[in-house]
Amino acid sequence: MPVITNVQDLHRLYRRRVPRMFYDYTESGSWTEQTFRANVSDFSDILLRQRVAIDMAGRSTASQMIGQDVAMPVALAPVGLTGMQCADGEIKAARAAAKFGVPYTLSTMSICSIEDVAENTDKPFWLQVYTLKDNDFMQRLFDRARAARCSAAVITVDLQMLGQRHKDIRNGLSAPPKLTVRSIANMATKVPWGLEMLGTKRRFFGNIVGHAKGVRDPSDLAAWTAEAFDVSLDWDRIREFRRMWDGPLIIKGIIDPRDAVEALNVGADAIIVSNHGGRQLDGALSSIRALPAILDAIGGRIEVHLDSGIRSGQDVLKALAMGATGTYIGRAYIYGLGAMGEAGVTTALEVIHKELDVSMALCGHRDIRGVDKSILMIPKDFSDRWQ
Ligand code: GLV
Repeated sequence: MPVITNVQDLHRLYRRRVPRMFYDYTESGSWTEQTFRANVSDFSDILLRQRVAIDMAGRSTASQMIGQDVAMPVALAPVGLTGMQCADGEIKAARAAAKFGVPYTLSTMSICSIEDVAENTDKPFWLQVYTLKDNDFMQRLFDRARAARCSAAVITVDLQMLGQRHKDIRNGLSAPPKLTVRSIANMATKVPWGLEMLGTKRRFFGNIVGHAKGVRDPSDLAAWTAEAFDVSLDWDRIREFRRMWDGPLIIKGIIDPRDAVEALNVGADAIIVSNHGGRQLDGALSSIRALPAILDAIGGRIEVHLDSGIRSGQDVLKALAMGATGTYIGRAYIYGLGAMGEAGVTTALEVIHKELDVSMALCGHRDIRGVDKSILMIPKDFSDRWQ
């Protein structure tokens, strides 16, 4: 077994094991991928202040996200098609998160259904909700989440229309995969992945097939997906969703302070500063650069979380020190899942936890809840270079 010391090690194993079309899906940003890259590289513009000779015994990374206890403030982000990266991937990721003590967010566009994940795990998870036109489907989705004891709904507001990802178009990405000569040839080289896939029945969008109007079997999916997303979404519609779901509500996909205030006004309990991992508007600000202005606009009235670009515990530490109360990893755990299933997700969490714990200590802190901007050196124009 290769020694794994960081998320990049998992990435290398992941790349070897998973068919090209699913690897490309993970590794895509939209258009030129400028924002996808900036999400990662902007973290390295922020430096950490090292301190010494401070008692580092008895450290804790435990905290809370939306009032729920977490072993560290790092949740697993919703990722569509997770069950194509690894057979029964959503169940495996949810189990790893539950054992580690961090939240798992199931995507609406998951392969394993809400009910499937609930039956196969013993801790509540969060459900990510896409804003679709079909009101009955939306109402039922929230009802299903309630019945499955989901402990939060995460509404994604930045995907009324899809940012174009060139690789996905070229690969004809779908679930189940489109069988072209090229994709069959590539899948034939991924034997362990294929054997596991043959051993599961979960190979379609489990929350959609048999649940959405007109989608009785997987062959109806392509037409449904093209029509389902609500291009007319506005904040009044999001208010309707707030009425459909009375549990904790997180609004995901905020990159502008004006939208942050709208989300606060519809009654969100938290927002996620996110540009969808650089997969929507190419040329948008990285989420770490967008964070300070959004924190100012929210002024502590609700929690502000952050995703997009986090690949290490140092990234988590920087986001928390800037003022976020929670963070999410997406690609970082998908690498682990594709590489080694549930154990790989656990490894990704362990690696990030260790990086977070040691880096926090080397900055002179024992309790993650106590870190603040004083541990950072932030370039003067970091967040106001663009007005
Ligand atoms: C869906 O959320 C995607 O980014 O592919």
